[in-house]
Amino acid sequence: MKKSFKIWILDSGKWGYYALLDIKSHFPQYDYETYLDYVNAPYGNKSSEEIYTLTEVGCLELWGKWCQLILIACNTICAETMRKLQDKYSDKKILGCIIPSVEVATEISQGKIGLIGTKFTVNSGKYQKEIAKLSDSHKLFALATPELAGYVEDGISHHPETLIYLDRYIWELMEKDIDTLILACTHYTVYYEYLTIKYPHLKIVDSARTQTIKLWEYLQKHSELFL
Ligand code: DGL
Repeated sequence: MKKSFKIWILDSGKWGYYALLDIKSHFPQYDYETYLDYVNAPYGNKSSEEIYTLTEVGCLELWGKWCQLILIACNTICAETMRKLQDKYSDKKILGCIIPSVEVATEISQGKIGLIGTKFTVNSGKYQKEIAKLSDSHKLFALATPELAGYVEDGISHHPETLIYLDRYIWELMEKDIDTLILACTHYTVYYEYLTIKYPHLKIVDSARTQTIKLWEYLQKHSELFL
């Protein structure tokens, strides 16, 4: 019997589930599975080698199952490891979440874009590089929020002290006059509503949501995947 088209969503922690919910609500016709490595999360404070090794283990497991497309919902993985995997396993289909966010942010921002992400994502400079490829009139202000993914993973995302921690970074970015804020971490999706209500003048770009938009474009171009 012919198996249906299946998309696997890979993330460093259980919040990749949010990416799944958004994608599934737009493409209910496909089958989905998640590979959420919450045992080893958070990835954001790990070394490049550790992130690569953990992600390769995950991908190999998925390719051993029925898997036509891996969506990497984790910005930390997309910052560096994803390109290495795409080069090493060039016959496999792997899609990331950074370029979709960069495309949306440069479209909607007048010029100054803020970003919060893990230490690894920010230090990699990946967002900076991708923005520079698309636009020379946009400037990025990126801040690492090293504890935040851990707080979300631990279930204290909206604890008053966690929100004070988050707001401190947002204020620092607002001092730079940003008009757009990229949530460059799957886990930060839980703050989408909070930030939209508290900072209504900021345009919020959430990597879990932008990935869905770009997936649609990708699937239009790759109809061979469904044959
Ligand atoms: N999911 C990861 C990301 O999008 C962050 C969490 C972690 O540090 O593992 O960057």
